[in-house]
Amino acid sequence: MNDSAFHYVDGALHVEGVPAASLAEQFGTPLYVYSRDALTRAYRAYADACAGRKATVHVAVKANSNLAVLNVFARLGAGFDIVSSGELARVLAAGGKASYTVFSGVGKSAAEMREALEAGVKCFNVESIPELHALNEVAKSLGKKAPVSLRVNPDVDAKTHPYISTGLKSNKFGVAFGDARATYREAHDMANLDVVGIDCHIGSQITEVSPYLDAVDKLLDLVEQIESDGMSIRHVDVGGGLGITYDDETPPDIGDFVRTLLAHFEKRGHGQREVYFEPGRSLVGNAGVLLTRVEYLKPGEEKNFAIVDAAMNDLARPAMYEAFHRIVPVIERKASARLYDVVGPVCESGDWLGRDRELAVEQGDLLAILSAGAYGFVMSSNYNTRARAAEIMVDGERARVVREREEVKQLFASESILPD
Ligand code: LLP
Repeated sequence: MNDSAFHYVDGALHVEGVPAASLAEQFGTPLYVYSRDALTRAYRAYADACAGRKATVHVAVKANSNLAVLNVFARLGAGFDIVSSGELARVLAAGGKASYTVFSGVGKSAAEMREALEAGVKCFNVESIPELHALNEVAKSLGKKAPVSLRVNPDVDAKTHPYISTGLKSNKFGVAFGDARATYREAHDMANLDVVGIDCHIGSQITEVSPYLDAVDKLLDLVEQIESDGMSIRHVDVGGGLGITYDDETPPDIGDFVRTLLAHFEKRGHGQREVYFEPGRSLVGNAGVLLTRVEYLKPGEEKNFAIVDAAMNDLARPAMYEAFHRIVPVIERKASARLYDVVGPVCESGDWLGRDRELAVEQGDLLAILSAGAYGFVMSSNYNTRARAAEIMVDGERARVVREREEVKQLFASESILPD
C-alpha cells in the first residue's frame, strides 16, 4: 500500500479505521473513498516544508473538487488554484478564500474574469496577450486593477506522458519564453492591470526534481530581466505536477521536493521571493481509492476478463492515458491467482481499468483500484447513461457520504422531448 491510511488488517482492506468491505456494503459500488488523514498529511508535508518561508500552497482544484475534500484543505489554511468560475464557486462553497486563490487556465471568459475580480482573487495567471487585453477591459469596466502573473512556457521537458506535459514549446500553454519580457512590458502599460508575479506549470506526474530546477532557473533569469526593466515581481509560482507512486515510480518526497526548490531560490539569491506551489495529484492522488465489485469472470483463450461494475466513465485515466492503477482485493483470498484484464461494462474496447493483473478473485468479490483520488471522480462522466458513483470520506472510525450516488432519473431530468 502506498499510504498507511489504506492498509490490511487480517486480510481485510481498511481505510483508516473502517473496513472497506463495510463501506461497499453500506453505500454500494462503484464507490470513491477518501481518507481525511491522508489528505491532511499530504497537505502538511507541503505546508511544513514551506514554514518560515514566504511560500504558500494553492491546491489545484481540478484534481479533486469535492466540497469535503476542498474543505479539509481550507480548514488547514490552504490557498487554491482554479481554472473556471465553477471551481471558484466550489472553493467559496467549501469555505476557501478568494483572496487565497489564483486563477489559471488558457481560456478564461470575460464573464469568468468578472466573477473572479468581484470575488477578489489573489492573482490571474494570464497566458496570452489577447487575454491581458480582455482582463484589462473587464477590470476597467469594474473600476478595478487586476493582479496578474504571466504564465511563461519555460520550454523544459518534464519527462512525463505527452498528454500531461505542458511546458514544451509545442504545447498550447503559456507565453513563449522568448516573448515574455516584451509581454511583461505590455502588461505593465495597461492601466487596469497590476503585474505581481510570474508562473509556469511544466506538466503532471513528474517524478524528478531536475525539470523544476531548470524551469526555476529560466523563470529567475526572466525575473531579473523584468526587474531591470523597472517592474517588480512579488511572487514566482512554480505550478503543480509532482508525481505519486502508482506502480514503481519513485517521485521525491513532498517535503524534500519543496525544500530542494526553496533552497534553489536561495542559491540563486532569491531567498526572499514569495514562492507559490499548485499541487493537485500529490495532495489527493493517494488519498483515494475506487471500490468496485466483480460482476462476472470470463475466461478466454487469450485473456481472462474480470468484468467489474466500475468503468471508464468512473475512472477515465486508463482509457485516456493508458494509466496504471494498482488493483487489489478488498478481502484477500488464499486461492491461487490468475492473470486478468479488469474491465468495465461500457461498450468500448478501451473500457479497461487494469491489464494482465494477477488476482485471486471470484464473482462477487470486491476490488480496490488504488491511487484514484486525483483526476478520478472529477473526470467521470455519464457515458452509457451510467449514474456517477458516490463519494465517501473516512475520518478515523467514521465514514460520511460527501456526494450522494447519482440516480438515473437525474441524468435526463433537464432534457425534454419535442411537443409534436
Ligand atoms: N496548475 C496548473 C496550471 C495545472 O494545469 C495543473 C494540472 C496543476 C496545477 C496541478 O497539477 P498536478 O499537481 O495535479 O500534477 N488529467 C491528467 C492530469 C492533468 C493535469 C492538468 N493540469 C491525469 O489524470 O493524469
